[in-house]
Amino acid sequence: MTTASSTPDGRVPLSAPDIRARKGDGTPLVMVTAYDFPSARVADSAGVDMILVGDTLAMVVLGHEDTLHVTIDDMAHHVAAAARARPRALLIGDLPWLSYHVSREETVRNAAQLVRAGAAAVKLEGGRKRLDAIEAILDAEIPVMGHVGLTPQSIHAVGGFKVQGKQLDAARAIADDAVALAEAGCFAIVLECVPDAVARIVTDAVPVPTIGIGAGRHCDGQVLVYHDLLGLEDRMKPKFVRRYASLKADATSAVARFAEDVRAGRFPSSDETYHLADDVADAVGLFGAAHA
Ligand code: KIV
Repeated sequence: MTTASSTPDGRVPLSAPDIRARKGDGTPLVMVTAYDFPSARVADSAGVDMILVGDTLAMVVLGHEDTLHVTIDDMAHHVAAAARARPRALLIGDLPWLSYHVSREETVRNAAQLVRAGAAAVKLEGGRKRLDAIEAILDAEIPVMGHVGLTPQSIHAVGGFKVQGKQLDAARAIADDAVALAEAGCFAIVLECVPDAVARIVTDAVPVPTIGIGAGRHCDGQVLVYHDLLGLEDRMKPKFVRRYASLKADATSAVARFAEDVRAGRFPSSDETYHLADDVADAVGLFGAAHA
């Protein structure tokens, strides 16, 4: 039976507990970001485990320099678009900057807005200082994914997009943060831009899956930004990005060929045109001649 919450082909979507249960099963988890209906369909057709409607929306879709420019309404709009793909993958909505920093009440309301838009879990950035927010969201029965290491919503505080945890104290703080998030009840934790040895220690220390981005291969899973892995974003390419396609180049060449065809009179062809039946065309011709 196909239900409102099942995928278009009747499968049951993955849940946060399903993802949590994958810790240590030997098959790395796969997460990719998506921001709308077509990108969520592509990601889900490719069989990923999780789709994150990330606040990287601000950069790769909306053209900002950092992630601080999206609001909870922006995120909900894009979560809703991705949710219309009805993916099997767990759909996670990213809580944007300032949506979980002000009060517990606002935090819960904002997390709920993403759930009402179609997310089955939310993600937020930060370690021990976010425990209150995490507790409040979990209390509202919404699963939470944590995110430590480089937390792009803190770029002004940390001084830019930099690898984190390179010194002993910083590495220890990241591990302590991750352990605290897991103990608080996060079902998984993103580890962003940390040395692989730190990611390994964290992964061994927590009972929930770690999902790495720029964190080496010892994590329980990996995530990449959709536009990076497809080559849709070419303004910068961090060391950890592997491009599996060159869609920006392909799209530019396709639009350029369309423009050439239009300018040379090659588009549209007869096959791409609606035609009148001959008798009607003759009558219309006479009608046109009479009005010339
Ligand atoms: O917003 C995002 O896309 C993210 C990923 C990079 C993990 O947080």
